[in-house]
Amino acid sequence: MTWKWSAENDPRNGQVGNIRGYRVNDNRDSGIAVIGSGYVGTVVAACMAAIGHDVIGVEINQEKLAKLQSGSSYFFEPGLDERLRAGIEAGRLTFTDDFDEAMGKSNVVFLCVDTPPGPNGHPDVTSVTAAAKSIGKAMHSPHVIVTKSTVPVGSGNWLTSTIEAVLPDVVEPDVFSVVSNPEFLREGSAVNDFLHPERIVLGGDNADAVRTVASTYGPILDQTFPGGAPDRRPALVTTDRSTAETIKYAANAFLATKISFINEIAEICEWVDADVDEVAHAIGLDSRISSKFLQAGVGWGGSCFGKDVEALAATARAHGQEPLILEAAQQVNLHQRRRLVRKLQQHLRPLRGSRVALLGLAFKPNTDDTRDAPAITVARELLEKGAIVRAYDPLVKQIPELPNLQTATDAYSLVDRADAVVLLTEWDELRDLDFDDVAARMRGDLIVDGRNAFDAKRVREAGLVYEGMGRGLLPRNGRSATW
Ligand code: UGA
Repeated sequence: MTWKWSAENDPRNGQVGNIRGYRVNDNRDSGIAVIGSGYVGTVVAACMAAIGHDVIGVEINQEKLAKLQSGSSYFFEPGLDERLRAGIEAGRLTFTDDFDEAMGKSNVVFLCVDTPPGPNGHPDVTSVTAAAKSIGKAMHSPHVIVTKSTVPVGSGNWLTSTIEAVLPDVVEPDVFSVVSNPEFLREGSAVNDFLHPERIVLGGDNADAVRTVASTYGPILDQTFPGGAPDRRPALVTTDRSTAETIKYAANAFLATKISFINEIAEICEWVDADVDEVAHAIGLDSRISSKFLQAGVGWGGSCFGKDVEALAATARAHGQEPLILEAAQQVNLHQRRRLVRKLQQHLRPLRGSRVALLGLAFKPNTDDTRDAPAITVARELLEKGAIVRAYDPLVKQIPELPNLQTATDAYSLVDRADAVVLLTEWDELRDLDFDDVAARMRGDLIVDGRNAFDAKRVREAGLVYEGMGRGLLPRNGRSATW
């Protein structure tokens, strides 16, 4: 690595916080270990190798390890397999289940194990604890431990104590330092988000350790890797650990709240016959609001928003605070799923015995992830209410929680003899259905667009009844006046 960073040559003047003014001359090659090869860890490992580092990924699950060693991921993430293969072929990326090997070959360790929802809203840190102990036991040389796993605020201190407690006797406790580096990767565009971030956040009390991690990100900060965009360099934010940990939760909570906000507006729109998509477009033109994450629909899902909003709320409660906005965001989100089922109840009378075809099961397009997917709640409620439910998703072929949910092999065979068709994930291939064909195949005529992704006019022209989320109660064929 040749990246050098000094206050004088740093173009992000004013953004480097408490480590401005240091001159970094010690940019020796960093060996990187990535602990945990899930959605985040695999992307970190593949992309760090892509920007020129020697990377060793650790995965203790033998089946997953074998797949990764052969150059392919065991989950769907666009662009990831190519990067994995390129890294392995270039000799810069390896995977192992051996912590000693990983610690021996690295001086920077990215901790990327999962933190699933745990008791009382707090994340379950079992995997982080286990990984921290394995790291500590295998530490024989200086390391910076970088937490990418989303951990409760204050975990940096707890992690430090956990590692310290198991260090080999001959090693001094200051052999390592913990830096918080929250991830802002979206599933489906994680590779791009990693290589072209808008900001990189580093939180730590040891300036040397923070600088080491910043150096590791050098080619991304300067966008000098092949395919980099030097005119769009990310901001670097350095701060203390608790603030960095809080930034992660606040970012996800804000995005989730923004979606819940527009979904509440969507419901109001239905009662006053307004169109939420036009409202979102117009308010989003105000740069203070911005149009991103204002897409109304059946609400947010996935492994992050629900867990992180709940964790932040639990932190607030643990300190005697009432997290009113966070709780409202959660309630509004669950309400969307119920509201969608209610639309079906209103049209299909009775719902019991009606055939409902669900388009999309993943929590969003371009992923096979169904964790906390709105589709699962909707399917479960419909089944409980006696509807006959089938589903089609381009990638998801079964839902372990709903073993009785039948799936079809394509969208058109799915809608055969359906009374209602419901869009729950706006995959590109589902947005542009031939609605004449759909209408000819259906027994009923109801289309519920849970993502406001269909062209309502085309649906109605096919003789079908269109119900969106916040697109007004009356039939509408494009409402804007022509000038
Ligand atoms: C989210 C954040 O966007 C990432 O920045 C963060 O790193 C990640 O969580 C994480 O904590 O690991 P992700 O869960 O992959 O990423 O997906 P998003 O693209 O944020 O979508 C989340 C949900 O919100 C999806 O169900 C999506 O359909 C829904 N959504 C999104 C809306 O309903 N409306 C919108 O306008 C945008």
